[in-house]
Amino acid sequence: MKGDVMNAFESEWISIGAVTDIPREGARCVDAGALRVAVFRTAEDDVYAIEDRCPHRGGPLSQGIVHGGCVTCPLHNMVIALDTGEAQGADEGHVTTFRTQVRDGIIFIAASDIASIAQTASAA
Ligand code: FES
Repeated sequence: MKGDVMNAFESEWISIGAVTDIPREGARCVDAGALRVAVFRTAEDDVYAIEDRCPHRGGPLSQGIVHGGCVTCPLHNMVIALDTGEAQGADEGHVTTFRTQVRDGIIFIAASDIASIAQTASAA
């Protein structure tokens, strides 16, 4: 029975490594086909996953500065909320977010979130 529960979990969530693999206020990238996902760890050890593509001109958000629950794009300083993917302040724009959870120090991303976006990306 426990194995069934684990199998169901593993089919719905993709393991992408340990929280400690990402420095605090840092990020690492995960490639999912044509899609690149930036996984962030905040100073409070919260973990967020968003598309690694700024809505302004496609800057690599994974290389931005993390502050609070936001990241600042390294190209032109647009600030994106990590939980909603929405641009902050006067800027407008949105990046795709992916559900994450941490279990025993391991980060998981929702497989269905990745699959639906990867299909869109590869069809474009
Ligand atoms: S590409 Fe990110 S702010 Fe311009």
